[in-house]
Formats: sequence, structure tokens, C-alpha cells
Amino acid sequence: MAKGKVDALLGIVFGDEGKGKVVDCFTPKYDIVARFAGGPNAGHTIIFEGKKFVLRSIPSGIFDEGKINIIGNGCVIAPDLFMAEAKELEAAGYNLKSRLHISKRAHLILPTHRVLDRAYEAAKGKNKVGTTGKGIGPTYSEKAARTSLRVGDILENFAEKYAALKNRHEQILKDLHYTDYDITEEERLWLEGVEYMKSFPLSDTEIELHKALKAGKSVLAEGAQGTMLDIDHGTYPFVSSSSTCSGGVCTGLGVAPNAIGEIFGIFKAYSTRVGSGPFPVELFDETGDKIREIGNEYGAVTGRNRRCGWVDLVALKYAIALNGVTQLIMMKSDVLDTFDTIKACVAYRKNGVVTEDMPYDTEGWEAVYDELPGWKTDLTGLTSSDQFPKAFQNYIDYLEKALETPITIVSVGPDRAQTISRA
Ligand code: IMP
Repeated sequence: MAKGKVDALLGIVFGDEGKGKVVDCFTPKYDIVARFAGGPNAGHTIIFEGKKFVLRSIPSGIFDEGKINIIGNGCVIAPDLFMAEAKELEAAGYNLKSRLHISKRAHLILPTHRVLDRAYEAAKGKNKVGTTGKGIGPTYSEKAARTSLRVGDILENFAEKYAALKNRHEQILKDLHYTDYDITEEERLWLEGVEYMKSFPLSDTEIELHKALKAGKSVLAEGAQGTMLDIDHGTYPFVSSSSTCSGGVCTGLGVAPNAIGEIFGIFKAYSTRVGSGPFPVELFDETGDKIREIGNEYGAVTGRNRRCGWVDLVALKYAIALNGVTQLIMMKSDVLDTFDTIKACVAYRKNGVVTEDMPYDTEGWEAVYDELPGWKTDLTGLTSSDQFPKAFQNYIDYLEKALETPITIVSVGPDRAQTISRA
């Protein structure tokens, strides 16, 4: 952490790497924690002192009462879901109102955006993206089409602007013959959420950040989703709709590239993916089921089964280069404690072609593996890296060599306390 810099913590595969836990551990070192992309499609789980919270739109730095948290301009926000999330934190005793600043430039997810999300998915037949259904794609599409509403819009003539956009959506839904929906209750809560949002500082968060950086404050940018779900660089069209990579930190917070300091790339000791799309390391056998069961790999937002497989070095190398990752953080190592051997995908193969580079079309490739001995030891009670069993240390050394990047933090369980620094 350097003063006057923005460090970024980014999921570098398909999301669900455990960013929430790490941001929560990092927060004491930073003055400000800021989300720069995505919205309530994220589900950042934080467990401490026997309590569990799942954050969707609110940054994971919120549990540290002294810190400012920002929802940046690159985010999309659903007022009803935001209200539910914030009220749960308030009920647990956290004071949010003065510490949670929302960018006036963030875009609003309307109830009809969620209906559109469902309608577009239904129209795709078997090519569904498998979205979280939170209206993410339709909202970002309208942002790009310059027809969307922003948080700042709720401060002036909002009823009129809302009605016009909702009418437009209803017309599109009619054209799609998707008319069997009822948003009456949802809309009531949504409008209540709009009023509730007005009790938070709705601000020019980029200017706030410029001033904070100039004053030597440190900022942690909290990623959402992961590199392989990035709108430009992921497995398009099976991606989310925002810029999840380090470039997205600049556009999604309004900070310059030379303000970026460390880039932490977070990944799991194995791989998961939720939703449709290519996933060459996917295991359809009992090993995949075992990883899912031990790792509790079910979606935090939708409850869907996550697809599971071994670690993917092709994807990780690509993500490290795209993001400029300076340090790696390996999560959920303990999930592999009972396996006799551990595999790592070193290349993809299709029709006799073998590549170590991420292909344009990731469909139809199979994984080529290296195999390493498992450690067959319970890691969950370990507190320092000199206690690591030899085979686990070998796995770390193997990954660091292949990825040419240091793994500086290793997580061995869900609690804050089960986080081991190797720096
Ligand atoms: P959307 O972001 O809801 O449009 O979903 C697009 C794709 O990204 C789907 O495959 C989702 O399952 C996936 N996705 C979106 N958010 C997350 C996340 O936080 N973790 C993992 N996958 C996600």
C-alpha cells in the first residue's frame, strides 16, 4: 500500500474467488475502499466473529467504521436491492450514512431492466448466457446507447424521467411478446429505495478521489466478477457487461493510470464458473462434485451449482498479463486437502493443436494437465507459512514459477483469521 495510490484487488478468473474476505482483511491499511464495476450480480461473502454477511453493491470495506466506501461511476445500482442490503447492515449496528458515498454517475437498474434481462435470456434459447437476472446487461447496454438514468437523475424531475424510460421498456417487452410479468410490488420497493438513497451522500466521487489521492490517502479498488467475465477480454458472449480488469479501475472510478499502485490478482487453488460458456478445465466426474461439495461452490446470488475444475494456468497467465498483476492471492487452498493428486491445466488442445495462449474462441478446447502430489493434510489450523506441508509448498512454488508472479497471501479457510501472509 502506498500513499496517494489506488491499489486494485481483482478476481482474475470467473469471479467468486473470495474478494470480499480479502478486502475486509486489507481495509485497515487503506483510507478508502471503492467498487468500480458491476452491481448486485456480485455476492461478496464476509465471515468474522461467527457472523456472515453477503454484500452485493456495497464495498467490503464497510465493516471498518473509520473508512469511507465508494460506489463508483462504473457501477450499476438497483435502489431496492441496495436498500435491503444497507438496512441489513444498519440493523447489525453499522453506521453507513456518512461513510458510504455513491457516484452520481453510476447507472440505475430499473425493475423493467430485470424483466428485459429475463426476456433477452428467454429469446436466446439454448445460447443463454445464464445471467444472474439482475438486469446488468440491459442497464449497461442503455448506458452505452445513452438512454439510461443515472443516480444523479433522482435529484431532479425523477418521476417524469422514470416514467419515460419505463414506458420505453414496456414497449420493447411488448415487441418481444414478453408481457407476462408483474412488477407492482417490486416497483413500490424500488421507488422507496430511490427515496432511501437520497439519505446517502450522492457525490462526484471521482473528484473526491482526486482530492483524497492528492492529500496522500490510500485507496483500495475492489473488483467484481473476474477477468474471464470482462466485456472485452472474457469468453464473449458468455461474459458480464462491465470492465472487470485493471483498466476498468481507471474508467470506473475516474482515476488516472499513473495513480494505480499494486495490482492484487486473486484466484482459487482450483477453478469454478457459474453460468454458461466455455470452461476447458470443467470436471464432470466425482472429483468435480467433491470440489463443489467441500468448497461449498454454490452461487452467492442465485444459489446455482458452480461448475468446478482444476486450476487453469492458461487463463491465469492471460489474466496476469491483461491486468498487470503484481502479487497473487490464492484462496480456498484447504478445499484440496484430501486429494491424492492435484492437477494444473498447462495448455489447451483442439484438433491436434496445442496452445498455451488464450484462444479467441475458447469453445471446444480440452485441458492438458500436469499432475502434482496432494498434501493430504488439514491446512485450516495453520497460522504461518513455515507450517506448510512440503507438498503444499511445492504446489505454491510450481504455480509461482509457471505464473512468474509471487503468491503473497494464501487463504486456508473462510474466516478472516485463516489468512496467511508470505510477503
Ligand atoms: P450478469 O452479470 O448477471 O449479466 O451475468 C453474466 C455472466 O456472468 C453469467 O454467466 C453469470 O453467472 C456471471 N456472473 C455475474 N456476476 C458474477 C459473480 O459475481 N460471480 C460469478 N459469476 C458471475
